[in-house]
Amino acid sequence: MTTQRFDVATTFGVKARPGLEVLGYADDTHPQIPLRQPYVFRNALLRDVLAYLHDAHGDGMFLTGPTGAGKTSLVTQIAARLNWPVQSVTCHGRMELNALIGQFVLMDGSTHFVHGPLAIAAREGHLLILNESDLMDPAELAGLNDILEGQPLVIAENGGEVIWPHRRFRVFATGNSAGAGDASGLYQGVLRQNLAFMDRFRVIHVDYPDVGVEQQVILSAVPQLPAAIAERMVRVAAEVRRLFMGSDSEAGELTVTMSTRTLVRWATLSMTFKGAPNVFEYALQQALTARAEPEQREAIHRIAADVFGDYWAPQAA
Ligand SMILES: Nc1ncnc2c1ncn2[C@@H]1O[C@H](COP(=O)(O)OP(=O)(O)O)[C@@H](O)[C@H]1O
Ligand SMILES: [Mg+2]
Repeated sequence: MTTQRFDVATTFGVKARPGLEVLGYADDTHPQIPLRQPYVFRNALLRDVLAYLHDAHGDGMFLTGPTGAGKTSLVTQIAARLNWPVQSVTCHGRMELNALIGQFVLMDGSTHFVHGPLAIAAREGHLLILNESDLMDPAELAGLNDILEGQPLVIAENGGEVIWPHRRFRVFATGNSAGAGDASGLYQGVLRQNLAFMDRFRVIHVDYPDVGVEQQVILSAVPQLPAAIAERMVRVAAEVRRLFMGSDSEAGELTVTMSTRTLVRWATLSMTFKGAPNVFEYALQQALTARAEPEQREAIHRIAADVFGDYWAPQAA
């Protein structure tokens, strides 16, 4: 595939040195290129991912951070703008490496070998994204070590097929922990990862964006929303997160939290239900609090009512 240079400032809508460029692909028609969506790029995170795309040095890249903070979409939205095809998988506890490499499937009465996302990405120079990789058995993931280092993938089942990794093949993994298991106890099923595997990854932290960025995120997703409302929604999210996290000595008071994903949903639903009596409360309920315990729902609605002030009243909606 032919490569193409992209200007960083205009491609990602960030402040960057004039003339700073990154390499992507020229062909924008590949079906595995992610759908382009509005995304607010944070400079430091963008810089780290672009540096890794530019030169992997035999590493993978691990994005760690809370749920719905923009880990997966950071990678897919960069890929969307660089026309970089992506093979994306969501890991789980019973997932085996063979599911990533390829398997025989029965078709029309005979078996055929079908390559998995790892084999395709390595062969074609796509990005491989392993979502929630810390749910996967470390022993299975360890099988990725050789290919990360540039060794060929040998598929014994398929007549000893040899796939040399393409020079633009890259591996991203995301997870709520940074490979050390989950110390907070908030995430179920997170396994302590194999040290030899994690040793091959650069790790970056993707936390919930700060207030200014998160407000931009809402407004880029729902441009019709008044800025004063977006600002209040972000404040409610910050307070919910604070109560969810608790402090060093105490567990959090809430067992649900407001991710950036939920925040965008709240904003979107507020426009969908425009005209409903207390639209912001109604939308908040569907976006988040319907899945909370009744006392927690009440507590969150009280926080929102405080923050919204007059805007919470039905007639203001
Ligand atoms: N910086 C951002 N700009 C725009 N939308 C964002 C941003 N961060 C998160 N989002 C929204 O949150 C959703 C969830 O993000 P995602 O990348 O799937 O989270 P994670 O992988 O961390 O769980 C995205 O689909 C998008 O709507
Ligand atoms: Mg994700």
